[in-house]
Amino acid sequence: MTALSTSEMNILLATAGDYEGVLAISEGIYAGIDYLPFRYHAWLKDPQRRMFVAKLEEKVVAFDSFLVVDGGVAAVLQGLRVAPWMRGRGVAGIIQKFTLDTLRLDHPDVTKIRLTRAEDPPPTMLNKYSFLHSKAVIPVYLSAHELEEALKVLESRIPSTCQEFPPPVFLDYSEVHRLFSGPLQEGDLLPRRLLIQAWLPITTCKANLDLMQRWRVRWLCSYPCDAMHRISGSSEVPYVIASSDITNDGSASKDDNISVSGTGPSSAAVKGFLSLTSPMFPVPLGDGKHRLDIDLFGTDLSCAKIHILLLLKEAVKALPTGGSIVCILYAEESLRDGLTGFLDRLIPFTLCREQLVLEMDIKPVKTPPSTQCHN
Ligand SMILES: CC(C)(COP(=O)(O)OP(=O)(O)OC[C@H]1O[C@@H](n2cnc3c(N)ncnc32)[C@H](O)[C@@H]1OP(=O)(O)O)[C@@H](O)C(=O)NCCC(=O)NCCS
Repeated sequence: MTALSTSEMNILLATAGDYEGVLAISEGIYAGIDYLPFRYHAWLKDPQRRMFVAKLEEKVVAFDSFLVVDGGVAAVLQGLRVAPWMRGRGVAGIIQKFTLDTLRLDHPDVTKIRLTRAEDPPPTMLNKYSFLHSKAVIPVYLSAHELEEALKVLESRIPSTCQEFPPPVFLDYSEVHRLFSGPLQEGDLLPRRLLIQAWLPITTCKANLDLMQRWRVRWLCSYPCDAMHRISGSSEVPYVIASSDITNDGSASKDDNISVSGTGPSSAAVKGFLSLTSPMFPVPLGDGKHRLDIDLFGTDLSCAKIHILLLLKEAVKALPTGGSIVCILYAEESLRDGLTGFLDRLIPFTLCREQLVLEMDIKPVKTPPSTQCHN
């Protein structure tokens, strides 16, 4: 197959009118749970994002985008795809170069770009980017008629006493903003001090937390008991709370009567545990299937199980009647075996095994990108 040159393609800012064209090149991507069809129009409205399409003879053949993050000093590349019939001809390289050139020209303060990829990225990528971190990806499918039973099975696999952690609590955003300057240490929980939320690797700076609030990302947190003492200034810690009785707004009252558990003291246990979720959304697979991404931070297996069960219960409450869930868990590699055991008997969903975070330093450019870009 002949490689295409930059001059043979038009690269333009994507518009609402390109939606169908982008959909047409996206068929089958990510095993049918692609996020772009659902996010496309919201992404277009985001002032921090630029989206690009490459066109050949008026037809969309590739898509890419960047989002400026970290208060304007970094960007994340997201959504790259090339039409199946155009792959292997260098198109990905061309649109990525254009995206990067535009980023460097329009945002001279951006000095780093990050992206996430599944396992085995092409060697040329690894030459350009430095590897930051890798997490285990564990996708499962909960069909509509098995949801209730699946939750029961998971509940039965949660140990019944907890030494180190009070029950997890959903944080409001004033608590989120204080989280890492108080009870939890960023360096303990976040690899490279990065949150990775639904494949987006970003720092915990205020601007990013504000973005996540806009996207309605929910923070579920298990404080270690000693941190609870520090927060409340009291020795009375609510050790026993039922995850099934967490209220709609995510808070759990001290009167709640449920038990959560741990597997015994470990140095990791005292560091706390955090998980992030954004609202589920319908995916191209159709048939009422919704995608739920759960990003887990921390290394305590019991906490991870408790968080997953609670978040699944919350998701089921929000699911339209007859809907089913493709749930993708992202966890530290050390939790893979334990979580795979926990989820045993649920239907695995084939997607990928790993989530890699890559980063590259960039410098600003002074001349516009060489191919055409029309508004
Ligand atoms: C991955 C994909 C975009 C590659 O497109 P392609 O046009 O066939 O890629 P080519 O091999 O012809 O282009 C090679 C260039 O793209 C880069 N590339 C290839 N795969 C890539 C990937 N997954 N992520 C980023 N860059 C990639 C190569 O490093 C190379 O860059 P260079 O020319 O600067 O060296 C395409 O196969 C695709 O759309 N796959 C489905 C969606 C997907 O997996 N997207 C990527 C993850 S979001």
